[in-house]
Amino acid sequence: MERRRTTSNAHEWSIERRETLYRLGKSLAIFLAAPLITLRSLQAIVHADIETTNGAHMNQLSPTADDPFRLPRHVRPDRYELRLEPDLSGAVFHGHVMIVVTVDRPTDVIVCNALELAIESALVEDAAGQRQPASITLDEPLQRCTLTVTRPLVPGEGRLHIGFRGTLNDKLRGFYRSTYKDRDGKAQPLAATQFEATDARRAFPCWDEPDFKAVFSTTLVIDSALTAVSNSAVLSETQERGKKVVRFADTMKMSTYLVAFVVGRMEASDLTLVGKTPLRLWTVPGKKHLTPFGQEIATASLQFFERYYDIPYPADKLDLLAIPDFASGAMENLGAITFRETALLVDPRSATHGELERVADVVAHENAHMWFGDLVTMSWWNGLWLNEAFATFMEMLAVDAWKPEWKRWDTFGVARAAALSVDGLHSTRPIEYAVRAPKDAEAMFDVLTYEKGASVLRMLEQHIGPTVFRDGVRNYLRSHAYGNADTKDLWISLGNAARQEVPALMDGWIFQPGYPIVSAELTESELLLTQQRFTYLSNAAAGFWQVPVQLRIQAGEKTETRRLLLMRDEERLACPEGTRFVVANEGGHGFYRVHYGPLLLERLLEGLETLAPIERFNLVNDAWASTVAGLMPLPAYLDLTSRFTTERDKNVWAVLIDSFAFLNRIIDPSDRPLLEAFVRIRIRPATAAVGWTPQPGESELTKQLRSELIGALGRLGNDAETQARAAELYATARKAAAAVDPNLLPALVAIQAFTGDAARYDEFAARFKTAATPQEERRYLFALAQFRQPVLLDRTLAKTLDGEIRVQDAPFMVSAVMHNVYGRELGWRFVKTNWDALDRRFPKQGLRRMCGGITGLCKPELERDVRQFFDSRKIDLGGKTLDQYLEQLRIGVSFRERHGETLKQYLQKAR
Ligand code: BES
Ligand code: ZN
Repeated sequence: MERRRTTSNAHEWSIERRETLYRLGKSLAIFLAAPLITLRSLQAIVHADIETTNGAHMNQLSPTADDPFRLPRHVRPDRYELRLEPDLSGAVFHGHVMIVVTVDRPTDVIVCNALELAIESALVEDAAGQRQPASITLDEPLQRCTLTVTRPLVPGEGRLHIGFRGTLNDKLRGFYRSTYKDRDGKAQPLAATQFEATDARRAFPCWDEPDFKAVFSTTLVIDSALTAVSNSAVLSETQERGKKVVRFADTMKMSTYLVAFVVGRMEASDLTLVGKTPLRLWTVPGKKHLTPFGQEIATASLQFFERYYDIPYPADKLDLLAIPDFASGAMENLGAITFRETALLVDPRSATHGELERVADVVAHENAHMWFGDLVTMSWWNGLWLNEAFATFMEMLAVDAWKPEWKRWDTFGVARAAALSVDGLHSTRPIEYAVRAPKDAEAMFDVLTYEKGASVLRMLEQHIGPTVFRDGVRNYLRSHAYGNADTKDLWISLGNAARQEVPALMDGWIFQPGYPIVSAELTESELLLTQQRFTYLSNAAAGFWQVPVQLRIQAGEKTETRRLLLMRDEERLACPEGTRFVVANEGGHGFYRVHYGPLLLERLLEGLETLAPIERFNLVNDAWASTVAGLMPLPAYLDLTSRFTTERDKNVWAVLIDSFAFLNRIIDPSDRPLLEAFVRIRIRPATAAVGWTPQPGESELTKQLRSELIGALGRLGNDAETQARAAELYATARKAAAAVDPNLLPALVAIQAFTGDAARYDEFAARFKTAATPQEERRYLFALAQFRQPVLLDRTLAKTLDGEIRVQDAPFMVSAVMHNVYGRELGWRFVKTNWDALDRRFPKQGLRRMCGGITGLCKPELERDVRQFFDSRKIDLGGKTLDQYLEQLRIGVSFRERHGETLKQYLQKAR
């Protein structure tokens, strides 16, 4: 997958969740920051912050009457016997659930969750055997269902019997309907579920909070021609009244958000046995040939995790299902993982490295969740990072072990950079963050939870050692299996394994927003290290961390590594005689930035070849962030980029190219040719060296690099020769696909769109519909947002409303048009004009994803209009999302205001 984002495939990385952030990542703007402050008093402020945050989090763990979104706990579920009968063509379902509950005290009310369900009957039995009908009230805003009985229930084990009806919706949430075209081009329905975070309540009445764990026994009544898959193995399949009745085995005790069922015409791959676990992949008819790659990584990662965790896979089988319409990338339902097609089905012969990596990542990520998330679950959504950051971290470990040559941890630098970018905003939030309403739970699925979370885990793992860390993880999983846990529980397990206090080190990274920039200055005999919170916009934001710093000191012929914990605002270190340079953040595992003093920086640039790729990546990334933040002059940064002509690492190039793309967003159109010329000067030498044709034995990474460079030269550099050659090669690829390296295709297609006319547009729109693989479909789809003519981009926007583009993709397409400098005005106008229609049409998270595009509207007049629109409509995108987008926009516009003139002068001279 493209965590790599370049101009040629800027949207590939993140189509699902990480996109917005990621894009933000690309746009680190800034202006002047306050001078570095090193005040000891900051510490006090920070500790106060941490306490407040912790306080909020404690409240959530003991929900009180003042949080109307939490259910009372005097009646709790132990077991659900669920029977559902979906009617796919009528798009409705009816169901019955028997819930075994524990009643703590005499009561006449039972409160659970239900939403958009019609409850038809409710009967309650208590521990004394009295049976009585209950009256039902539904509270829409609070998404609750209250059952009231006349005689109080006797404490002990009780049973509820509830009959209900619902709609198979088209919003990709709850129990929903997906549609695909069969071989004859006829539309066929499929029913699937997506419950996380809070949508199980749309499929059946339940206690829909992660710490009400229970056993689920599911029965599906379906048309005889269809297949049903759920969390556990099929116990029996019988016929009743001409219908197929499929009974599934009991699940383990688990949270409601992990329940799943899929019903439709589906084909399965052959079974693989992983230990005792049967594993297979499912697709709609005709796509089975795209399953072997996914099956291979599914098998390899399941084996990897059983060994790493030293706990057997916790379910009785594992199905991985590709669903044609799917809101996110994939979902870790126990034993029945669901995916969007691009994240599971792939043809390794025609896919790019990035597309294969994407499948491997997602599959490994969801498999990792079977333990982290499913077996042990966060108590409440404020602790979502315990699920998602761990799954992301484990995904890296598993993929790295499977294909070491992919250098997955190097490319993880790009994801870490995206997190550093959002976490450099004043509107960032701590990794753990109070959650009340469902909308705020959804907003937690962001780059801070995933990428910052995984980064700080990697930092800790490297600090205490991988084996100690693994032992702590094993202990944590064993201690809380089938239950729930909080961050403090993790610290206890890791602390026991490491024989050290973890909270002092880690709480600052989890409960406090932001991160430090560590300044490194070399004097004659000393290295001076200082820390200060990094933010892009001018500030004196408080913050103080215990920073694990790994240094590499080069003195004469000798190189030594030193580890230290930067505990104070300032630290002085004696350096060996003849110290030439020091690399701070050696190996690149730290979640902080480094600002080198001028002497050190110059010496590092002279010794670039001694730096590891991730260290060069961080050097450029931090320099660029410092530039946006006003800590480094723009001309100094632009000079620095000239030192990378011999660079051959794709990630280093990605960050260089991203910074040029940022400049492209803020430059006056009349000056754009100057920027294009500059980009050509910078990129041409590397492109010439790498050439257009893969060399025998060259690595996957070089193939990707080639595509990055050519894509950037053809579009950002607007290079006529590259465009001509790309057109020829594209034509060759159309005639004989095997003649061209698939890795080049994204760049070729993107350049054809950039230079393309209406005929090309029609061609791509047609190819999008007839594509042979999900990846090809996606490539042509996103190309439709990369044309330059307004009339063509208008056609693309119209397709997001008329059904031609699936709703799972539509929000990203609108966002992509706003990120296209030739389409941003019309993209924004489209959003404003059609807001209500888009809101009605898009799935959950849709508006949030679409609005990610506003960060590309870097013009003062657009910014004013954007603010005015959101103010007047009082729009809430959940959590801090909107504030973050607006701050990123501010950063871009203020960069333009402050540096526009300098940039122009620099570029004129550079010609
Ligand atoms: N648990 C999430 C799926 C999810 C995302 C549910 C958002 C509800 C809201 C799943 O494990 C996940 O993280 N999926 C990622 C892909 C993954 C490889 C990062 C996604 O959907 O982007
Ligand atoms: Zn996940």
